[in-house]
Amino acid sequence: MQRYGISALLGYMALTALIGCKVSPPGRAEATIVQWTKHTVTVGGAHDTNPVPSSADSIEAGKQAFGFYCVVCHGRDGQNTGVPFAKSMSPPIPSLASRQIQQYSDGQLKWIIENGLAPSGMPASRGILSDDDMWAIIVYLRHLPPEGSLGEPAVYSGEENAK
Ligand code: HEC
Repeated sequence: MQRYGISALLGYMALTALIGCKVSPPGRAEATIVQWTKHTVTVGGAHDTNPVPSSADSIEAGKQAFGFYCVVCHGRDGQNTGVPFAKSMSPPIPSLASRQIQQYSDGQLKWIIENGLAPSGMPASRGILSDDDMWAIIVYLRHLPPEGSLGEPAVYSGEENAK
Protein backbone atom coordinates (compact mmCIF):
# COMPACT_ATOMS: atom_id res chain seq x y z
CA MET A 1 0.00 0.00 0.00
CA GLN A 2 2.67 2.41 1.12
CA ARG A 3 4.86 1.37 -1.83
CA TYR A 4 2.17 2.46 -4.26
CA GLY A 5 1.90 5.75 -2.46
CA ILE A 6 5.61 6.35 -2.84
CA SER A 7 5.79 5.37 -6.48
CA ALA A 8 2.83 7.58 -7.26
CA LEU A 9 4.65 10.42 -5.53
CA LEU A 10 7.82 9.66 -7.48
CA GLY A 11 5.90 9.55 -10.73
CA TYR A 12 4.34 12.85 -9.90
CA MET A 13 7.72 14.36 -9.04
CA ALA A 14 9.28 13.00 -12.24
CA LEU A 15 6.55 14.54 -14.35
CA THR A 16 6.80 17.80 -12.48
CA ALA A 17 10.56 17.84 -13.04
CA LEU A 18 10.11 16.86 -16.67
CA ILE A 19 7.85 19.73 -17.47
CA GLY A 20 10.00 22.00 -15.35
CA CYS A 21 7.16 23.63 -13.49
CA LYS A 22 7.23 24.86 -9.92
CA VAL A 23 5.51 22.81 -7.23
CA SER A 24 1.88 23.84 -7.35
CA PRO A 25 -1.39 22.43 -6.03
CA PRO A 26 -2.22 19.04 -7.65
CA GLY A 27 -5.23 20.39 -9.58
CA ARG A 28 -3.07 22.96 -11.32
CA ALA A 29 -0.22 20.52 -11.85
CA GLU A 30 -2.49 17.89 -13.35
CA ALA A 31 -4.00 20.42 -15.70
CA THR A 32 -0.48 21.46 -16.70
CA ILE A 33 0.49 17.86 -17.37
CA VAL A 34 -2.58 17.31 -19.52
CA GLN A 35 -1.80 20.50 -21.47
CA TRP A 36 1.84 19.55 -21.88
CA THR A 37 1.01 16.05 -23.10
CA LYS A 38 -1.50 17.40 -25.58
CA HIS A 39 0.85 20.03 -26.96
CA THR A 40 3.89 17.76 -27.32
CA VAL A 41 2.66 14.18 -27.72
CA THR A 42 -1.00 13.77 -28.71
CA VAL A 43 -1.34 16.43 -31.35
CA GLY A 44 0.55 15.70 -34.57
CA GLY A 45 1.26 17.84 -37.61
CA ALA A 46 3.81 20.10 -35.89
CA HIS A 47 5.88 20.50 -39.04
CA ASP A 48 3.13 20.91 -41.64
CA THR A 49 3.00 24.42 -43.04
CA ASN A 50 -0.08 26.37 -44.08
CA PRO A 51 -0.28 26.59 -47.90
CA VAL A 52 -2.92 29.35 -47.67
CA PRO A 53 -1.28 32.78 -47.31
CA SER A 54 -2.85 35.38 -45.00
CA SER A 55 -4.84 37.97 -46.89
CA ALA A 56 -8.15 39.78 -46.49
CA ASP A 57 -9.68 37.15 -48.82
CA SER A 58 -8.39 34.10 -46.98
CA ILE A 59 -9.37 35.56 -43.59
CA GLU A 60 -12.89 36.09 -44.97
CA ALA A 61 -12.98 32.55 -46.45
CA GLY A 62 -11.88 31.11 -43.11
CA LYS A 63 -14.46 33.18 -41.28
CA GLN A 64 -17.18 31.82 -43.58
CA ALA A 65 -16.11 28.18 -43.11
CA PHE A 66 -15.80 28.74 -39.36
CA GLY A 67 -19.27 30.30 -39.33
CA PHE A 68 -20.65 27.25 -41.08
CA TYR A 69 -19.33 24.52 -38.84
CA CYS A 70 -17.37 25.63 -35.77
CA VAL A 71 -19.65 28.46 -34.72
CA VAL A 72 -22.16 26.41 -32.71
CA CYS A 73 -19.50 25.56 -30.12
CA HIS A 74 -16.89 28.29 -30.50
CA GLY A 75 -19.06 31.33 -31.29
CA ARG A 76 -18.58 33.59 -34.32
CA ASP A 77 -15.53 35.20 -32.72
CA GLY A 78 -13.89 31.89 -31.68
CA GLN A 79 -14.16 33.10 -28.10
CA ASN A 80 -17.41 31.36 -27.15
CA THR A 81 -19.54 34.50 -27.29
CA GLY A 82 -23.18 33.47 -26.94
CA VAL A 83 -22.47 29.71 -26.67
CA PRO A 84 -24.63 28.67 -23.71
CA PHE A 85 -22.84 25.41 -22.81
CA ALA A 86 -19.21 26.47 -23.42
CA LYS A 87 -18.22 26.53 -19.76
CA SER A 88 -20.22 23.52 -18.64
CA MET A 89 -18.61 21.06 -21.06
CA SER A 90 -15.81 18.88 -19.74
CA PRO A 91 -13.22 19.99 -20.65
CA PRO A 92 -14.72 23.47 -21.14
CA ILE A 93 -14.44 24.99 -24.61
CA PRO A 94 -11.33 27.17 -24.64
CA SER A 95 -11.11 30.63 -26.16
CA LEU A 96 -9.33 30.09 -29.47
CA ALA A 97 -7.69 33.50 -29.00
CA SER A 98 -5.98 32.34 -25.78
CA ARG A 99 -2.22 31.93 -25.58
CA GLN A 100 -2.64 28.22 -24.90
CA ILE A 101 -4.28 27.71 -28.30
CA GLN A 102 -2.26 30.29 -30.24
CA GLN A 103 0.91 28.46 -29.15
CA TYR A 104 0.03 25.56 -31.45
CA SER A 105 1.70 25.70 -34.86
CA ASP A 106 -0.57 25.96 -37.93
CA GLY A 107 0.14 22.28 -38.66
CA GLN A 108 -0.96 21.25 -35.17
CA LEU A 109 -4.18 23.27 -35.48
CA LYS A 110 -4.83 21.51 -38.80
CA TRP A 111 -4.32 18.14 -37.09
CA ILE A 112 -6.75 19.09 -34.28
CA ILE A 113 -9.41 20.25 -36.74
CA GLU A 114 -8.97 17.23 -39.00
CA ASN A 115 -8.90 14.57 -36.27
CA GLY A 116 -10.82 16.16 -33.42
CA LEU A 117 -9.84 15.51 -29.82
CA ALA A 118 -11.31 12.28 -28.52
CA PRO A 119 -12.85 11.79 -26.04
CA SER A 120 -13.77 15.47 -25.62
CA GLY A 121 -16.55 17.22 -27.53
CA MET A 122 -14.21 18.53 -30.23
CA PRO A 123 -15.31 16.69 -33.43
CA ALA A 124 -13.19 15.63 -36.42
CA SER A 125 -13.71 17.63 -39.63
CA ARG A 126 -12.16 15.12 -42.02
CA GLY A 127 -14.65 14.50 -44.84
CA ILE A 128 -16.77 17.49 -43.77
CA LEU A 129 -14.43 20.36 -44.63
CA SER A 130 -11.92 20.46 -47.48
CA ASP A 131 -8.20 20.91 -46.76
CA ASP A 132 -8.41 24.45 -48.14
CA ASP A 133 -11.31 25.27 -45.81
CA MET A 134 -9.37 23.95 -42.82
CA TRP A 135 -6.23 25.94 -43.70
CA ALA A 136 -8.33 29.08 -44.29
CA ILE A 137 -9.97 28.57 -40.89
CA ILE A 138 -6.49 28.55 -39.37
CA VAL A 139 -5.74 31.88 -41.07
CA TYR A 140 -8.97 33.19 -39.49
CA LEU A 141 -7.93 31.79 -36.09
CA ARG A 142 -4.75 33.89 -36.33
CA HIS A 143 -6.84 37.02 -36.99
CA LEU A 144 -9.78 36.65 -34.62
CA PRO A 145 -11.83 39.80 -34.04
CA PRO A 146 -12.20 41.32 -30.54
CA GLU A 147 -14.28 39.18 -28.18
CA GLY A 148 -18.01 39.80 -28.59
CA SER A 149 -17.61 42.05 -31.62
CA LEU A 150 -19.55 39.77 -33.99
CA GLY A 151 -22.50 39.05 -31.70
CA GLU A 152 -24.00 35.64 -31.04
CA PRO A 153 -24.29 32.74 -33.49
CA ALA A 154 -27.58 32.96 -35.40
CA VAL A 155 -28.72 29.59 -34.01
CA TYR A 156 -28.83 31.03 -30.51
CA SER A 157 -29.89 34.62 -31.21
CA GLY A 158 -32.67 33.53 -33.57
CA GLU A 159 -31.65 36.17 -36.12
CA GLU A 160 -31.95 34.80 -39.63
CA ASN A 161 -29.22 36.91 -41.19
CA ALA A 162 -26.83 37.16 -38.27
CA LYS A 163 -24.29 34.78 -39.77
C1 HEC B 1 -19.63 20.14 -31.00
C2 HEC B 1 -18.87 21.27 -30.54
C3 HEC B 1 -17.62 21.68 -31.29
C4 HEC B 1 -17.49 21.98 -32.63
C5 HEC B 1 -18.55 21.92 -33.71
C6 HEC B 1 -16.12 22.38 -32.81
N1 HEC B 1 -15.43 22.33 -31.63
FE1 HEC B 1 -13.48 22.86 -31.31
N2 HEC B 1 -13.63 22.28 -29.37
C7 HEC B 1 -14.77 21.79 -28.76
C8 HEC B 1 -14.44 21.40 -27.40
C9 HEC B 1 -15.40 20.80 -26.39
C10 HEC B 1 -13.06 21.68 -27.22
C11 HEC B 1 -12.21 21.43 -25.98
C12 HEC B 1 -11.52 20.12 -26.21
C13 HEC B 1 -10.35 19.83 -25.33
O1 HEC B 1 -9.75 20.76 -24.77
O2 HEC B 1 -10.00 18.65 -25.23
C14 HEC B 1 -12.59 22.24 -28.48
C15 HEC B 1 -11.30 22.64 -28.69
C16 HEC B 1 -10.84 23.22 -29.85
C17 HEC B 1 -9.48 23.68 -30.07
C18 HEC B 1 -8.39 23.67 -29.01
C19 HEC B 1 -7.81 22.34 -28.77
C20 HEC B 1 -6.98 22.28 -27.51
O3 HEC B 1 -5.90 21.70 -27.54
O4 HEC B 1 -7.40 22.81 -26.48
C21 HEC B 1 -9.41 24.19 -31.32
C22 HEC B 1 -8.20 24.80 -32.01
C23 HEC B 1 -10.73 24.01 -31.92
N3 HEC B 1 -11.57 23.42 -31.00
C24 HEC B 1 -11.07 24.43 -33.19
C25 HEC B 1 -12.29 24.13 -33.81
C26 HEC B 1 -12.60 24.44 -35.19
C27 HEC B 1 -11.68 25.21 -36.13
C28 HEC B 1 -13.85 23.94 -35.43
C29 HEC B 1 -14.58 23.91 -36.75
C30 HEC B 1 -13.88 23.27 -37.85
C31 HEC B 1 -14.33 23.35 -34.19
N4 HEC B 1 -13.35 23.47 -33.23
C32 HEC B 1 -15.59 22.78 -34.03
C33 HEC B 1 -16.02 21.69 -29.33
C34 HEC B 1 -16.31 21.89 -30.67
